[in-house]
Amino acid sequence: MITNFLKLKTRRKIRQICLETDRVTHSEKNKEPISSIVLHYPGSTTQGHVTRQVRKHKIAINFTSRCLFRCRHCYIWQQQNNYYPLEKETWTKFLDEVKEIYGTNVIIEIGGSGMAEINKNLMPVLKHASSLGFETTYSTNCHLVNNRILLRLLESGLTSLVIGLDFFTDKGHDVQRGVRNSHKHVLKVFDMLKTQRHSTNIIISCIIMKSNLDEIIPLTKWINQQEHITCISFNSLAQPLWTETDPNWHRKYTNLWPEETGKVMELLDELILMKRQGCKIANTSSQLESFKRYFNDPNRFIRGSPCNADELGFQVTAEGELKNCMNKRSLGNLKEISFKELLDSENYSTLSEEISGCTLNCHQIQNCRYTDD
Ligand SMILES: C[S@@+](CC[C@H](N)C(=O)[O-])C[C@H]1O[C@@H](n2cnc3c(N)ncnc32)[C@H](O)[C@@H]1O
Ligand code: SF4
Ligand code: SF4
Repeated sequence: MITNFLKLKTRRKIRQICLETDRVTHSEKNKEPISSIVLHYPGSTTQGHVTRQVRKHKIAINFTSRCLFRCRHCYIWQQQNNYYPLEKETWTKFLDEVKEIYGTNVIIEIGGSGMAEINKNLMPVLKHASSLGFETTYSTNCHLVNNRILLRLLESGLTSLVIGLDFFTDKGHDVQRGVRNSHKHVLKVFDMLKTQRHSTNIIISCIIMKSNLDEIIPLTKWINQQEHITCISFNSLAQPLWTETDPNWHRKYTNLWPEETGKVMELLDELILMKRQGCKIANTSSQLESFKRYFNDPNRFIRGSPCNADELGFQVTAEGELKNCMNKRSLGNLKEISFKELLDSENYSTLSEEISGCTLNCHQIQNCRYTDD
């Protein structure tokens, strides 16, 4: 019996019911999707959202920590010893256990760096996740995506393909990403997509930061006109990923942090308006409002309640470490111990308490694990 897990599960179930009640009210009030966790546009059409009553568990898998890019906002490429692909069987066993515990109420998010496409396990693992009935997303800078890889991704049953594009013009994007012609290649992939028949959502992921403030509105308007792109989803700039936590990072990375707060507020107000007018922006207005609070005062915790990262799901590193939060210690390694055993460990319950006491405005809480409650 997995007793610790069941105790936590009951506590969380009660909280979940309360949250659902709150979110239904919120949704009716604002006529917006209940959750910003999943971006749902039916098929490739762009008419409205499908609302969801139950929050899904998100399981993010960093398939490899290798990256060809030299992004200014993410330093994964500076990792030493950075290539630890797990055996395919470790991933499939883990996914099977996830299904046993949560059913299909799960989103499997695969990504984490720019070189997963050349790993032989990627497509089998994606296919396995889809065949289990999970919703699946794959995030990429798409530099290694060619026609063949694109076709295989689309045929894997993938629900959403998430492509990083921060600029409307090529120069800014290439400088930010540290690779010449990276912008051009994204456009090439868009052209490839036009020739494919598929039902995968194509989502553009864009960070709001100093260097692209003037580019975001033109980019959003352009994306809104592209029939083969489902929507754009914004991230607020977080401390560059894979750097040591530093509360003063905004002052250190002056090339990234937009100190012209007024300009950011104007931009976010315009995005909120565009969203209300039906523009294909995936974030809820409430998340865009939370970005405003964050850019005004980056060290003030954006949530009105404790961090809920432990309730939302898990992250698995390329080495197989299972975590609730990328910034906290690991629960254990999937190569050595099963998911079920990890959920029953003392480590899991004590970590939950640490998480609820943390007030860091991290990438997870602002962006990929943002929730309205
Ligand atoms: C870690 S990346 C992995 C996917 C892929 N390699 C890419 O670059 O799009 C996942 C998402 O996080 C975003 N991201 C990376 N660093 C960030 C930061 N410092 N603040 C906010 N978002 C960030 C990326 O733009 C991307 O959309
Ligand atoms: S943001 Fe993506 S492309 Fe850029 S360094 Fe990180 S993993 Fe690589
Ligand atoms: S607020 Fe703290 S515990 Fe929660 S996700 Fe961010 S770093 Fe992790």
